[in-house]
Order: sequence, then structure tokens, then C-alpha cells
Amino acid sequence: MPELERFTSSLDVDVELAEYDVLGSLAHARALQAAGLLTKEQLRRVERGLKTVGRELESGKFVFADSDEDIHTAVERRLGELDADAAARLHTGRSRNDQVALDLRLYCRAAAAAIVEGLAFVVEVLATQARRHADWPMPGYAEPLLRDAGRAINAHEAAGELPLGAGALAGSTLPLDRLAAARELGFKRLTQNSVDAVSDRDFALDLAYACLSVGIHLSRLGEDVVLWASAEFGFVRLADEVATGSSLMPHKRNPDVAELLRGRSGRALGSLVALATVLKGLPLAYDRDLQEDKRALFDAVANCLECLEAAALLVSRLEFDRARLEAAVADPDLLATDTAERLVAAGRPFREAHLEVGRSVLEGGHAAPWDAVRSLQMRDQEGAPHPRRVAQAARRARRQAEALRRWTKQTSLH
Ligand code: ARG
Repeated sequence: MPELERFTSSLDVDVELAEYDVLGSLAHARALQAAGLLTKEQLRRVERGLKTVGRELESGKFVFADSDEDIHTAVERRLGELDADAAARLHTGRSRNDQVALDLRLYCRAAAAAIVEGLAFVVEVLATQARRHADWPMPGYAEPLLRDAGRAINAHEAAGELPLGAGALAGSTLPLDRLAAARELGFKRLTQNSVDAVSDRDFALDLAYACLSVGIHLSRLGEDVVLWASAEFGFVRLADEVATGSSLMPHKRNPDVAELLRGRSGRALGSLVALATVLKGLPLAYDRDLQEDKRALFDAVANCLECLEAAALLVSRLEFDRARLEAAVADPDLLATDTAERLVAAGRPFREAHLEVGRSVLEGGHAAPWDAVRSLQMRDQEGAPHPRRVAQAARRARRQAEALRRWTKQTSLH
């Protein structure tokens, strides 16, 4: 029935897996040949057909049929039109269950690498701003994003097990060469349980969580920029390209990009919750519920990449207002802790010093022992904001971003 075909179809979403479906099928065909299940000539014909299908998909020339229920059936149907015998042999020892698990793993690995690259870009831009303003107060945003890169790399690692060979759920009676397929696709490990392999989406959850974590951190960055750009603070001016005008107030420069960075984290959380909810309560092996994993995951990834790009552009075009920042730190009472710590350094118990300085602030009699610049210079432990430390941290963040770029380059070779 057409209504139910529409209901069960996933083509509009999983068309995003097209490239990975072709890659996975090529590796599967080669593994079949290695196991003696395809002759050299048969393999050559499968390869030729699949490459044509891949080219058609990439160039947008691929014509979908009404009967295409998902990307896997579409690719096999088209291969059959090009070479019926090749298509009839390709699905040997394979089910769409292990096929979709493989495609999704390949997608997750590419997505994780793209996210790490996007993070490296934002970290570099932040490091440049931090170095440029090392002796101005500016919070260190690179650290949480570097932790996020670690999460994305973990998700990449989690996706690196080959599920092909699990078949529908119970493996295959045919002597498939799983290791050969794994090697070809850049996987270091094989899934160890066929029933689990077709229903495990933990790697997708890991990636969705990494996206959420990026979303949370960029939303905090967005919130600070909104505040700093407000007329009341005026710490930062938004360049024309990253500010929008108001349709009503002629003078207004709206921090829409920063506000959207804040707002879009809602979608990131929604995706993680949607995915986790699909998975909870599922019995072992593949169930069609799992088809619902993709919409949430794809949106999480697309949203994350868009936010990273916007954040990099936003941060690179922030112009800090030195005079406003200096005025904001001119209040001597901001240095009340410095005064108390000077008393401590002279031997007074901290609680006593705290009380005394607190009282003098209340009575309007507090005199700062030095100014804000000196205060920063005296904060000279690891991770503290001495300008030299800030410059060091910026250099370190830049080196870490370079290492992340090397990592993405090396993983994309697969
Ligand atoms: N379109 C399906 C999905 O995305 C592919 C797997 C179909 N398997 C099945 N047993 N119906 O999950």
C-alpha cells in the first residue's frame, strides 16, 4: 500500500549514506572474491557497475525509482539495471542489517573527522585572539573545545569495528573474509557478536554526545558574546559581517550569530534524546525502530558542523574595546581578594583578613594594593592569567589544533 510504503521508506534520510553504501559494497565484493565466492571476472563486473552507480549518485544523475525503499535497495536496483548478474551476486552472505550498520559506522567516522577539523579551526581562531590580547582579560575558550575533540576522536574509534559478516543476525554459512573487508575500510577491529553487531548503535550515541558537548560549549561562548556586545557592556564590537541590523531600530546591531549559537544547542540535545529514546527498550538483533537513528544523528552532525563554522567566523571578527575593558577593571574593589592575600602573605589568617577587607569595602575605605595589570602579573601559576601564561596557553592550543589537523588528515586516508 502506498501509504505504508511512504511510512516505512527511509530514502529521503539515508540517501546521505550513498557514498558509504557504495564503498561498503565494494569492500564486501572484494571480501567475497577473497573467499572464493566471486571469480576475478565477476568481481571486476561488480566493481565496474558500483563505480558507475557511485558516479551517478555523486553527480546527481542517479534516477530513483518508486520501488526504492532505502539507499541500499536503490543502489542494488540500479546495479541490476547495469549488470543483472553482478547485482544478483553482490548480496551474498550479507543482509541490509549488517549493511546499514556498516554504512552508519563509515558515516560516523567521516563525520567525527570533520568535527575534529572544525574544532581545530575554532581553537586556532581563539588562540589567535588570545595571543593578540594576552594582557587583556579574556576567558580561555579553547580548553573545552579541545576536550570536545577528544570526545569526537573517541566516537571515531568506537565506530571502527566492522559489522559485515553478521548477516541478518546469525552470521553466514559462507567463508567470508571479514578481516580483508575491515582492512580495506580502515577498521582495526571486527564486531565480536553477530546479534549485537546489527543492533549496536553505541558509536552513534557517542558521536551525538560529542556534538551535544560542542553545542553546549558554543552556546556558552555565544552567551558571553551577546553580553559583551550589548550596549551596557560594550566590551566587543561585532564586525558588519557577523552582525545583523534590526528591521525596526535603525542604529541596532544584533548579535544574531551568537544568539543562534546559544539557541542551536537545543537541537543538539534534542537529537541525543531522540536517539537514546529509539535505543532504549529494544530487544536484541535488528528492529526497524533502528531506522529512526539516522534523522537524529544526521541533524546532530549537520548542526554541529554549521555551528563550528559560524563560531570560527564570529570569533575571528570580534573587535575588543580596550578602553571599555580597562574602565570595567578600574574599580579598586575588584582587587579586594588581592588585598586580603597580601595580608595573608604577611602572616595573617585568611578568615581574619577576609573579614577586615570586607568591612573596609563596605565602609568605602578599601584601597587596592595595586592595579589590575599588576594583579594579573602576580597570578603566575599553571593555568592562571599572567599575560605570559595566557600567551603560552594560546601557543599550546595552537599546537594541539595542529595535532588535530594531522589526525584528521591521517584518518581521511582511509
Ligand atoms: N532502511 C533500513 C534502516 O535504515 C535498512 C535495514 C533494513 N532491515 C530490515 N530488516 N528491514 O535501518
